[in-house]
Amino acid sequence: MITINVKRYDPVKKESYMESYEIEEIDKMKVLDALEEINKKYDANIAYRYSCRAGQCGSCAIQVNGKSKLACKAEINDNDILEPLNLPVIKDLIVDRTELNNEVKSLNMYMTSEDCDIPRTKPELIKPQDYEACDQLRGCIDCYSCISACPVIKKTGSYVGPYFMRGFSNIEFDPREDESLSERAIESGIYYCTSCGECSNTCPREINIYGKAIEKLRERIFEENEGPLPEHKFIHESVLTTGKSVQPKEDSDYPEGFIKKYNKMHGSTKNGKIAFFTGCMIDNRLPWIAEYLINVLEKLGYEVDVPEEQVCCGSPLLRTGQTDIVQELVDKNYEIFKDYDTVLTVCAGCGATLKNNYPEYGVKLNVLNISEFLDGKLNPEDMNDVNLKVTYHDPCHLARSQGITEEPRNILNNIKGVEFIEMDRPDQCCGAGGGVKSGLPEIAEALADEKVDMIDKLNVDHVVTICPFCEFNINDSLQKKNSKTSVINILELLNKAYE
Ligand code: FES
Repeated sequence: MITINVKRYDPVKKESYMESYEIEEIDKMKVLDALEEINKKYDANIAYRYSCRAGQCGSCAIQVNGKSKLACKAEINDNDILEPLNLPVIKDLIVDRTELNNEVKSLNMYMTSEDCDIPRTKPELIKPQDYEACDQLRGCIDCYSCISACPVIKKTGSYVGPYFMRGFSNIEFDPREDESLSERAIESGIYYCTSCGECSNTCPREINIYGKAIEKLRERIFEENEGPLPEHKFIHESVLTTGKSVQPKEDSDYPEGFIKKYNKMHGSTKNGKIAFFTGCMIDNRLPWIAEYLINVLEKLGYEVDVPEEQVCCGSPLLRTGQTDIVQELVDKNYEIFKDYDTVLTVCAGCGATLKNNYPEYGVKLNVLNISEFLDGKLNPEDMNDVNLKVTYHDPCHLARSQGITEEPRNILNNIKGVEFIEMDRPDQCCGAGGGVKSGLPEIAEALADEKVDMIDKLNVDHVVTICPFCEFNINDSLQKKNSKTSVINILELLNKAYE
């Protein structure tokens, strides 16, 4: 027998409640079949939608254990929690789609072009490759799972959400459309997206909504000189003039950044097999994290080179659509790192860019996040007892963009004296990414505040993370709320253990 927990909603009493049901366990049983079985066995009369039963109509989308899934495709497991999508509920698992359907109408989600260059009478003139940019985007089945999963929509009234951005992009990149959708996309909040990737992650059609729709639309807006936000333009200027997206603080111990100081002290080496790609934030704003990385690796018997000529990976430019100089950065970094067996990263955004975007620019490097590299190499017997209670925040660009969730947890469970407790939703976006922290800080703050509420419930000494952007954003909110918890980078924690 398996137990299934269903969130019910009684529209007459306007009451929500959880009910648990037991049904016989059947291998590979779908959620939809389980619901049918419950209704039959218990006469439970649970309300849910479905139509095609084949993953085509999108009507059966619900939340399974907090993640949006198609009930006709997802398999049921013991103790699963079934809830409606994060939309107004009509009854039990049925949500009200009226408002979204109306928004589709009001946003004119259709092609408007009347004087397209390509004569409509001769559709054979449009070649399949002309549809490449919007091909994947057209696979949407209107299930609204991405809308339900998006963490930003709930924090602002100005962002229509990933479903609509995908729709705009689909029209914009359709070769039959020659009218620009830039203005509509900006008005609909395209710069509110934090690039957390939850929409792509949740999409039953596996549409890369963030990468193929939102980023590409931001790129088009930049090409048309309609964007990005003024704060993002500074990043472009900074990379153009210095090769780095942020500059060191003059009053810091590293007024020229970590890389220059390190190479002055140790002599620039270029002979090792492992190189460290610091990323702009670690190099210029959190240089001590780089020191910790070097210390920990030395303790474990590894030497790394920190090539001096390395430049910004291009992540902040890609995320904000300012891609005109990205190829140049990719080529420079390729020349510098091409002969190394392994390129180590700390910053989640840099790692995701080097792994996922560089191949699109013709470059492949063997890149490992430091947690991937260290997993399995640590022995608690060699460590000091740190005696700390911690939780862990999954950076979006590590968890969803690189699929790294287990390795940091393995490391934490191997540090002597660490008591590790999970928070409610460790992989929920903190709001730091996608240019939102710099361009729309109030959104970043609202998301970080929600994260801090989860952290504060745990009464831990530290929230551990790896990404420098998350580190700054969560820390700002912890301080604002006078929390007793502070952020610690996993490398600082490891350094304490190996000190
Ligand atoms: Fe149509 Fe599930 S019933 S997608």
